[in-house]
Formats: sequence, structure tokens, C-alpha cells
Amino acid sequence: MDKSALSERLAEAGQSHILQFWEELSPEEQAGLAQDLQGMDLLEVNGFFQAAMELSGSAKQEKVDNHMEPIPRGVLGSVTRDRDSLQAWEEQGLRCVSQSQVAVLLLAGGQGTRLGVSYPKGMYNVGLPSHKTLFQIQAERVLKLQQLAESKHNTKCSIPWYIMTSGRTMQSTKDFFSRHSYFGLSPDNVIFFQQGMLPAMDYNGKIIMESKAKLAMAPDGNGGLYRALGSQGIVENMSSRGVKFLHVYCVDNILVKVADPAFIGFCVTKGGDCGNKVVEKTNPTEAVGVVCKVDERYQVVEYSEITLATAEKRNADGRLMFNAANVANHFFTLDFLRDVVQIHEPQLRHHVAQKKIPYVDPQGRLITPDKPNGIKMEKFVFDIFQFAKKFVVFEVLREDEFSPLKNADSQDGKDTPSTARHALLSLHHRWVLNAGGHFIDENGTRVPAIPSLKDGTDLPIKCEISPLVSYGGEGLEELVAGKEFRPTLVIDKDGAHQLVKNGV
Ligand code: UD1
Repeated sequence: MDKSALSERLAEAGQSHILQFWEELSPEEQAGLAQDLQGMDLLEVNGFFQAAMELSGSAKQEKVDNHMEPIPRGVLGSVTRDRDSLQAWEEQGLRCVSQSQVAVLLLAGGQGTRLGVSYPKGMYNVGLPSHKTLFQIQAERVLKLQQLAESKHNTKCSIPWYIMTSGRTMQSTKDFFSRHSYFGLSPDNVIFFQQGMLPAMDYNGKIIMESKAKLAMAPDGNGGLYRALGSQGIVENMSSRGVKFLHVYCVDNILVKVADPAFIGFCVTKGGDCGNKVVEKTNPTEAVGVVCKVDERYQVVEYSEITLATAEKRNADGRLMFNAANVANHFFTLDFLRDVVQIHEPQLRHHVAQKKIPYVDPQGRLITPDKPNGIKMEKFVFDIFQFAKKFVVFEVLREDEFSPLKNADSQDGKDTPSTARHALLSLHHRWVLNAGGHFIDENGTRVPAIPSLKDGTDLPIKCEISPLVSYGGEGLEELVAGKEFRPTLVIDKDGAHQLVKNGV
């Protein structure tokens, strides 16, 4: 192992401490460390650190706050206020799907630290009657939407599914899909690619060592997407398949309407090159970014970067002034995405996340800090909104479309497996009621549509409908209208047969 070339590079970048324990390492460890460093442009990493630190800090935060303006009504479409247009948008979106112009792109490179699992979040089972994982639910929605578009337009189509993973999630994600036969999708249409990683740095810009032989590395944020798209030829792959529109989304929302035709159709009809889905934010401290305008450009101000004073501002009608909560569902035309990848990506700065990062001290001891001791650098997927020529926003209902899984279960916890499970069961319960079905209790008495809170609990009626049966509540009448069901009700599809099981 040529230590001298390595030390020269490290010295030039002010990172010589990385070799402090070199002589104690086994040849394999030395080779591993050298390899980690080989693919890394250390001067570039130092530059990222400086730029990110310049952008962070409370003074900067207040500066952004002072320039924030709510989004104007003109860019906004709404599932509630624009009911008259909704059907036309849906039809437009479905037409695009039927022509194989729509692809979905899943951001699944996160580490799920808050949820506290060691495997990719998409593999999580929130305890539905079917025990389906988030990946399976999403895959089945893709399949169903493909079928809906095919039967409406009497044609064959496909929705390619691009899945971004990171060094930490790639192999297990791929294995999971392969073990489950891609949940019925064609493997050719599921394309995995990997985002980059960056080292964690201390406040002086020194790379943190997590052991004597290993750098502390983390994925470079979901905005690492754009670099990965370029470096791995994904834009060309999309282009060669005839994709024109992308729906980009985060893995953790159990209600996500993958490739939502209404959203796609709305963006396409409005001529948007970049669009974002939002729900109304009602609680100032909810951990969601808000879409707004800053110095005439659209952007999301992330929950970690807004001051409480601004988050709490209200309009005369009492609603929050910055109430367009980002639900991490984005629309891009392929042309826009190509420009971002080829032209704008280098202008995106990393955001700073202060973290407690376990490290090896100069005496070689492994320290687990109890307060933040360094930063991780992350680009954000929505930081490209500023480059849009025509930006549009689509407002949807939280109870229909947004229930993210972020945290482990705890009493009164937010965004947990229980809240995600309840959100899906409640939605499907409403679908059955709206299609003319009814629920009865153990005595055969009809359960009121809005059940009273018995014993102080607000557990939803257990009702789960497979996405293979219904994508968004459609097509249920013939299965449920005029019928009575006793929970747990599972409606699923098995080959050509549709089963309505009672008492599962
Ligand atoms: C995210 C949004 C926030 C939004 C909220 C809604 C970003 C930066 N923030 O916040 O504005 O209101 O969701 O739930 O998008 N990921 C990667 N690579 C990474 C890091 C994350 O692919 O390096 C993926 C994760 O797997 C996940 C998604 O990005 O699918 C969001 O990551 P997460 O850290 O959960 O974002 P939030 O902070 O919850």
C-alpha cells in the first residue's frame, strides 16, 4: 500500500489525521481505508463544507425568514376547490400513463435513523391485516394504475419505477425485491441506482473517523439524486424509454398515490415543468417543509431551517401564513430534469445537519458524544424548484394522501407505525362506506359511519383493500354496495378472483 501518495493527498487537503492509526491497521484495513479515500475528491469535500457552513447559522435563517412570501393562488390547484377540473386532470394523467410517458422515482437512500430499524424503511411492515410492507403497497399501486390506464385506453403500457438507494440500502433493497418476485412487476421496469456518500465533518472541517480504519460516512441527502442521475446514466435510460414526466416521492408515506394521475394531469395541463404536492399545515411545529417564495423564487423552507416566529405567523382568517406543507411528492418534466442534471446541479449547496457522531479520539478511544459534535452534509431534492420556468402546486387532503412513517411507536407518538396503519385503515373504511357498504358490530348492529370513541380509544374500523383491487377508491361498488361486513374486512385479489373475506 503506497502510504506516501496517500499522505501527500491528505496533507494537501488538511486531513492528515486520517492516517493517525495507519501503522496499527491490518493490511486489509489499510486497503479498505485507502479504497474509501480513493474515490473521494477531498478538495471538493472541503469546498462543500465551507459552502455549507457559510449558508447555515441562525443569522442566515432569519435572513431567509425575512424574505419568505406565501405562494400565490395563481400557481395552486386543489382537489377540494377545483372539483370541476379534477376529472379532466385525472383523465389527462391517465392518458400520459397509458402512453408510457410517466415514470416514478422513489427516494429510498435514507437511513431510517428515527424509526430505529437497521433495514431499509420500505421493508417495514406497519402491522396491517395483510402484513404488506411499504414497498409492496407502492408496487401494487403501480401495477394497478398500469392496469387502469391500459383498460381505459385499450393499450399496453408500463410505468418504470426508478429506486434510489444508498451504499447502506442498495443490496438489501435489491435482495428484498428479488425475494418477492418484484411484487408482480416486470423486473425490467424496476431500476435501482445508488446515490453518493459524504464524510461527516467536525466543526473545524476535519473528517470524522468512526473507527481507526473507517471514515464516518453518510448518504449525501435526497438531493444527491441529481448527481446520481447523471453519473449513472439514468436520464438516458428514461429518455430511451420515452418517459416525459416524473413523479418523485419519499418512501415513508403509506398513503402515497404513486404516479397520481390527477397530480400528473394537473401539472401537464398547467404547462408546469416542476410541481409539488402539498397538504395544509395546521400545526406550526409539525416537522414538514413549507413551500413558499423567497426573493421571487419558489422553494421549500425546511422545518429545520425556519424560525418558530415565522412558522407561527397567521393570516387574518386564523390559518397559518406558511401552510403549504411539502408532502415530498414532486413532478418534473424530463426536459427540466435533464437541465438540472446537466447544468444546475453544481449550484446546489449542501444543508448542514448537526449530529452526534460517534468518533475515535486522538488516543484511539471510541467516544459516543452526548451533544452534537459535527455535521452531515445533505442536498435536498426540492432545492431545484428555483430553476423551474413554470412552477405549480397541487393541494390535496391530508387524510387521503399523507401519513408518513418517521418514528418508532410510542405513547401519543407522531408519524409512527400505528398512526400510519390507522390512516390507511380509516381511508379504506371510508372507501367502503362511499361505495355503499356497511359495517356491523359483533351484535349485528350497524356501526355508525363516524364511530363514537368507545373507552376513550379512537381505533379505526379494521378494513384493508388491496391496491390490486382499488387504486384510489374506485371500482368497489360491485363488491360492497348494500352489503354488511364485520371487521376485520380484507378485500384482496387473487388471480382473476376477487375475494371478500370476513372475520380475518
Ligand atoms: C422530508 C422533506 C420535508 C417533508 C417531509 C414529509 C426533504 C429534504 N424533506 O423530510 O420537507 O415535509 O419529508 O414527510 O425531502 N433520503 C434519501 N437519501 C438521503 C436522505 C433521505 O433517499 O440521503 C430519502 C429517504 O429515504 C426518504 C426521503 O428521502 O424517502 C425523506 O427523508 P427524511 O429524512 O425522512 O425526510 P424528512 O426529514 O422527514
